[in-house]
Amino acid sequence: MGARMIDAVSGHSGIEAPAAGLDTRSDAGLLELITTEDPVREEALFAAARQVRARSYGQDVYFRGLIEFTNHCKNNCYYCGIRGGNGQVERYRLSLEEILGCCRLGDLLGYRTFVLQGGEDPWFTDDRIVEIVAGIRREYPGHAITLSIGERSRESYERFFRAGANRYLLRHETANDDHYRRLHPESMSLSERKQCLFNLREIGYQVGAGFMVGTPFQTPENLLEDLRFLQELKPQMVGIGPFIPQAATPLGAYPGGGLRQTLRMVALTRLLLPQALIPATTALGTISPTGREKGLMAGANVVMPNLSPKDVRKLYALYDNKICTGDEAAECRLCMEGRIRGFGFVPNMARGDYAGGAPVPGG
Ligand code: 5AD
Ligand code: FES
Repeated sequence: MGARMIDAVSGHSGIEAPAAGLDTRSDAGLLELITTEDPVREEALFAAARQVRARSYGQDVYFRGLIEFTNHCKNNCYYCGIRGGNGQVERYRLSLEEILGCCRLGDLLGYRTFVLQGGEDPWFTDDRIVEIVAGIRREYPGHAITLSIGERSRESYERFFRAGANRYLLRHETANDDHYRRLHPESMSLSERKQCLFNLREIGYQVGAGFMVGTPFQTPENLLEDLRFLQELKPQMVGIGPFIPQAATPLGAYPGGGLRQTLRMVALTRLLLPQALIPATTALGTISPTGREKGLMAGANVVMPNLSPKDVRKLYALYDNKICTGDEAAECRLCMEGRIRGFGFVPNMARGDYAGGAPVPGG
């Protein structure tokens, strides 16, 4: 069965069935895999995802250095701990020099990708973001610069791109309109978010979409829509993590997303987008001590250890009990390397650009 599965794997379009008995083509087949609780079935899914991943990227796991540079946010997403309406958060912003300091430390630790993530913070005007991106670009002409700062106009995205940003992470969170409205205030809309993603792709960014698993009111059909949206957008990166309640938010009393279901969504995403860069997320590591390793075993191939200064880490609390908030950047770097090697994977500190060609619309 194992060998036959390898032969049956389609490394390309992700449309053909990846392995005997796994139907990733029809809605019914996908729904069965989204919901199955049969461990044999799950293991077949994870094994198929590992094979597809190996074809695209071998056993390599790419490292990205994450810099959480502001926890101010004008939005009020009902699930997020740093939502503007959360008065219990001590807010911080890193200065340009502090951000550059994180990059310098990251470079010394071997990172070739910096991910600048923050809340939607109007203090960081386009001019200020351009200054930061250009400053990093000046010092590190060959490194990848990834932005993750939410929704902005197409013109803003173009300016950041011209200043030297290469990639952009903007999770769509859920691809279903009604579900989106139940997780966000009326000022936010799914169509605008999707438009941002298509704008970013057109400008030439490597784009990361993604969603949370197990958010309140989510149905299996919603998760199917997430997969179908990914097939439409064809992002180069996909971030998937379990919803984890944050006590001070409107959704703080709901149960969190499950480990197995999150892993199934990682695996299905790998099968549908064989060459995607998929992180084993911090949220996965938060709900299970070996969650990130399990993510890699389900088809993920990226980790994003934290490069933020230690004194601000606990303030970037999107959800409760977040891991790695007490560790130095060097500790996280070594810790992740050990974890990865322990599961037979190989840390890769290179830029790790998308291995596939330009996305083919409709293809
Ligand atoms: N649980 C899990 N993930 C969360 N995020 C925000 N709040 C939570 C939460 N409570 C995720 C969102 C966002 C990313 C930066 O963090 O998907 O896009
Ligand atoms: Fe941060 Fe392990 S990755 S301590």
